[in-house]
Amino acid sequence: MSKVTFITEDGNEVVAQDATGNLMEIARENDVEGILGACGGCCSCGTCHVRVHPDWLGKTGRATEAEQDLFDIEEGTDERSRLSCQVEMSDSLDGIVVEVAPF
Ligand code: FES
Repeated sequence: MSKVTFITEDGNEVVAQDATGNLMEIARENDVEGILGACGGCCSCGTCHVRVHPDWLGKTGRATEAEQDLFDIEEGTDERSRLSCQVEMSDSLDGIVVEVAPF
């Protein structure tokens, strides 16, 4: 039973249970405000930007080179930034907490 908690920009928590797929897909299925996923998960739009809770960074890892290329041209990203379409849910991420971030 994989659980994901999204914290939206206004501080609301959306908890997704039995989550499968990548975090962008899970956010969209659960109507998480602020996650658009405009490119469908091609790592090219940045509308699925989240910040991983510090406790979980060790498990998700940091942004890949492709994600970083996108972050380099935008403001408001930091070392916890990930594109949620690039984070695939797995047993090891059960309970993960991410914050929805503006892009
Ligand atoms: S959905 Fe476009 S970069 Fe993630």
